[in-house]
Amino acid sequence: MSTPETVSPETASAPPKAEADSKFREEIEKRRTFAIISHPDAGKTTLTEKLLLKGGAIHEAGEIKARKADRFAMSDWMTMEKERGISVTSSVMQFPYRGYELNLLDTPGHRDFSEDTYRVLTAADSVIMVLDNANGVEQQTEKLMEVCRMQDTPIITFVNKMDRHGLPPLNILEDIEETLDLETVPLSWPIGMGNRFRGTYNLYRDELHLFSHADMEGEHERLPIADLNDPQLDEVLGDQADDLRFDVELVREAGDKLDLQAYLEGRQTPVFFGSALSNFGVGDMFDAFVEVAPPPQPRPTVTREVSPYEKDFTGVAFKIQANMDPKHHDRMAFVRVCSGTFEKGMEVIHHRTGQTMRLNNATTFMAQDREGVDTAYPGDIIGIMSHGRVKIGDSFSQGEPLHFTGVPSFAPEHFRKVRLDDPFRSKHLGKGLQQLSEEGAIQAFRPLRGNDYVLGAVGELQFDVTLDRLENEYNVEAHLTGVPYTCCRWVDGPAEDLEDFEADHRDRLFRDADGDLAYLALSDFRLERTMEDWPRITFASTKQHTAE
Ligand code: G4P
Repeated sequence: MSTPETVSPETASAPPKAEADSKFREEIEKRRTFAIISHPDAGKTTLTEKLLLKGGAIHEAGEIKARKADRFAMSDWMTMEKERGISVTSSVMQFPYRGYELNLLDTPGHRDFSEDTYRVLTAADSVIMVLDNANGVEQQTEKLMEVCRMQDTPIITFVNKMDRHGLPPLNILEDIEETLDLETVPLSWPIGMGNRFRGTYNLYRDELHLFSHADMEGEHERLPIADLNDPQLDEVLGDQADDLRFDVELVREAGDKLDLQAYLEGRQTPVFFGSALSNFGVGDMFDAFVEVAPPPQPRPTVTREVSPYEKDFTGVAFKIQANMDPKHHDRMAFVRVCSGTFEKGMEVIHHRTGQTMRLNNATTFMAQDREGVDTAYPGDIIGIMSHGRVKIGDSFSQGEPLHFTGVPSFAPEHFRKVRLDDPFRSKHLGKGLQQLSEEGAIQAFRPLRGNDYVLGAVGELQFDVTLDRLENEYNVEAHLTGVPYTCCRWVDGPAEDLEDFEADHRDRLFRDADGDLAYLALSDFRLERTMEDWPRITFASTKQHTAE
């Protein structure tokens, strides 16, 4: 890089260093890298669409829903894969909103719920949780919350579908507190629900937000209210005014106060009520979100924490997308920029292999009208074509040997045994499963006793994908059969205890693709019993990837 004394005519217009530094800082501070989590059908797609419309990243209502419909109308996975162009661009969406740069990471849901769904969350700095007002906290949200909890991810809650009849708002708050062990602070309060849903009361601005039409259509009106006893309230809300007064008083007196630190530490969640479908309350929630959500955060490595403000580029791969181009077995690694500035064509060290990589073909995920942008800042995601060289959890830097942690493998929840149709293809099967495990598509376990691999997945669709890819990419025809396992834990401990444990549980012990020891249990109850019986052995439900 040129020093001030050696400035060449071409670089004479470059900003002075201090200015460049403040621009870098500004770029970081205006970024919000986040994910939206929900149980299927709570309204994640509808909300995402409304956010993208607000940010100008899409121009028509229905674009995202149409993509989703396309994806789920596909009967087989390969057809779905052929549409990968679509799903890749929708995996990361960068768009501006009120001066902020937002990176929305799509967490696969529904049929393609998979380990990726968990892992994508590890790349987000904060989360918007969408709940259906009729169902409160549901099972898939609970699972995703466990991942958020691992990193104390800050969470903003949007209680959706207030235009439909659901649980009383106070019960929903109670449910969040009890089920997720998260303090709630409502920042807006619904006025009625179902066909009596009139709007919301913004509790931190003391503003009434109302639909302008009784049919819940149209832009909503905002009415500042200095005092809840203002007779204006009775004029516009009629008999619902007193209900609102009562609720607000109750919430203000009995509820917790907004504590930004508690939010940032993942202990407290601000809650908004609204209807994504009617685009009501979404702007309110999002305005608060961009203000309070954290900018890119420091990321842990084995040796030290890396601050986003460090000058040198560093990044970590958290997702691998296969078959970008099926003819070339291409794979795209999604890398989160952790520090420094990424520039297209820059050379980085790929730490697991020690090799230098020139990132000429990296993709950035800017909104449509800013294609060709080839700079990325901390919090942004870049896509690197990897031809199978990059594994989940791999770290990149400009020199310093760093190994990022925090992108783990998650214990699978579904299991199948693989049976080869042609026993002479077993070497190919081994190679295929090794590679598919490395890119995080599936987890393959080899038994200590016996030969048949057991596959582990977080979502059932991972099995279909694996069989399909084994056939198409490795020319291996196989089928799957059921196995009685229900949970998996990676085990470790002092050598002599491990030896005894191995001798005792040989039939339930496996080696994963990294050679680490895993215990597959027949039930949660059995697992608990085993854990009690072997207090010196650790049973881990996640596993960090280790550098070789
Ligand atoms: P998801 O991504 O979390 O799975 O949910 P999605 O947005 O697809 O919403 C699931 C269903 O809930 C959709 O209805 C959607 O229209 C509806 N929905 C979303 N937000 C609201 C809301 O605020 N109020 C009401 N009343 N409904 C809402 P669908 O019938 O399954 O699909 P569609 O035919 O409407 O596309």
